[in-house]
Amino acid sequence: MSKTITAKITGVGFYAPEKILTNKDLEKMVDTSDEWIKTRTGMSERHIADEKTATSDLATKAALKAIEMAKITPEEIDVIIVGTVSPDKLFPSTACIVQNNIKASKAAAFDLSAACSGFIYGLTVARGLIATKEAKTILVIGADCLSKLTDWTDRNTCILFGDGAGAAILQATEEDTGLLSSYIFSDATKADLLQVPAGGTRVPFSEEVLKNRSNFIKMEGNEVFKNAVKGMERAIDTALLKVGLKYEDVSLVIPHQANIRIIESIAKRMKLPAEKVFINLDKYGNTSSASIPIAITEAYEQGRLKKGDILVITAFGAGLTMGAAVIRWSI
Ligand code: ACO
Repeated sequence: MSKTITAKITGVGFYAPEKILTNKDLEKMVDTSDEWIKTRTGMSERHIADEKTATSDLATKAALKAIEMAKITPEEIDVIIVGTVSPDKLFPSTACIVQNNIKASKAAAFDLSAACSGFIYGLTVARGLIATKEAKTILVIGADCLSKLTDWTDRNTCILFGDGAGAAILQATEEDTGLLSSYIFSDATKADLLQVPAGGTRVPFSEEVLKNRSNFIKMEGNEVFKNAVKGMERAIDTALLKVGLKYEDVSLVIPHQANIRIIESIAKRMKLPAEKVFINLDKYGNTSSASIPIAITEAYEQGRLKKGDILVITAFGAGLTMGAAVIRWSI
């Protein structure tokens, strides 16, 4: 009988643009305050890309760091998956642009649109490709440059987002480690809660679009908030159940970094002490699909992830998309 093949993470890396936008800077742009933003979101600052920088530039830098850590060459990569909702262009995919930048000449490359859940959806697809022996080495990237889709006159949304990219190398293994389980689902009845209404084929670009600012992010924050908490709880419970693990088996939870109040509510339900929940949204804001791989990299660099630890990651995003994964850390 052939052995079960699973996927383990062998390298991670992230990149955030140099320019930092603080809450104080935002006070000068819209009717808001440092105090409101900190209390309602937990955020203090976020990194913002300059005019010339696009999503693939961030993704490329993150990918090269993950490749270096995994000690592989770009030619060894079989598949590149970029989770993004802010691609460089409508087509070709950002993944293809990254492929060219890093010279991964043997890879198949494609984008995956699941908003802030993009990295977890990407890991899930990669795990399937590895388990079915379609691929041995996969580069999964979460990268978004939402500053370019943000209406900087809308205080409801412009305080929330930052730019960045995070990457992971997944490699086939016969060991009982790596990505143990994942669970992804979507609730499209709530698709209108968070969207960029125009610029696609439903409402193509026009003068009207620019006038109405409908080429920017629109969000019903309160409703997204409620659905996020419920969705991530369901995702975590299902992903843990699949591998027979309980809350007390978890070493670290890395939730999508969207709002400190959402994270606290999940931690309370799981009865997790503060040291078992990773938070860095104060420094980066909500970087969409990049938030989890950025946080994984920082947690590892800070010594908060050790070999054998059970890591749970969970996210929600436009769609609404939701998901969670259980990982036995193997580096
Ligand atoms: N500064 C000051 N006041 C503000 C601001 C601001 N930046 N933004 C909104 N307000 C006001 C509102 O106008 C409202 O005023 P009113 O009572 O006079 O009408 C008041 O503050 C309360 O507004 P709420 O929307 O009820 O505030 P809430 O506590 O829900 O916080 C927030 C808003 C932070 C957006 C929260 O709902 C949230 O985090 N939701 C989740 C959003 C999210 O994570 N989205 C990203 C998903 S990721 C992806 O897929 C891209």
